[in-house]
Amino acid sequence: MSRRDISLTVNGKALSGAAEPRMTLLDFLRDVLGLSGTHMGCEHGVCGACTVIHEGQPVRSCLMLAVQAERQSIETIEGLAGEDGSLSVLQDAFRDAHGLQCGYCTPGMLMSAEALLRENTSPTDENIREAIGGNICRCTGYTQIIDSIRLAAERLRETSS
Ligand code: FES
Ligand code: FES
Repeated sequence: MSRRDISLTVNGKALSGAAEPRMTLLDFLRDVLGLSGTHMGCEHGVCGACTVIHEGQPVRSCLMLAVQAERQSIETIEGLAGEDGSLSVLQDAFRDAHGLQCGYCTPGMLMSAEALLRENTSPTDENIREAIGGNICRCTGYTQIIDSIRLAAERLRETSS
């Protein structure tokens, strides 16, 4: 099937690559742009491992076509850390509060949590549960993940006050 060039902004940088019309955004990010930090799980919208931020909103990149991202903004896990590799406040909180074990769900969890914290600096546990409700973790347990996001929110509030 014929490919066409897709131009988009990924983590603030203008990028482009060739995609077939039916290529998912997930495959495009991983296989064409080489951004393999976004994980592939179920590939049909259930697990949330593939979550990225599209125009400010968390989306499942396995359910979106690459062509739908043309001239749009996508943020992936690779964009969370600083240029020097320093962890973001959110990533650091996951480390400190033991929010991960195998790490397979973690990029998707982090992107869902990142989108939440940008909109809500004081989320309740219920808000957090809702935000990560579409992200499945098979090993850590959700308690530590919720603790991690709550801790990140506290630290972000401290640094902005
Ligand atoms: S890989 Fe996209 S939701 Fe599971
Ligand atoms: S940390 Fe292993 S799936 Fe969540």
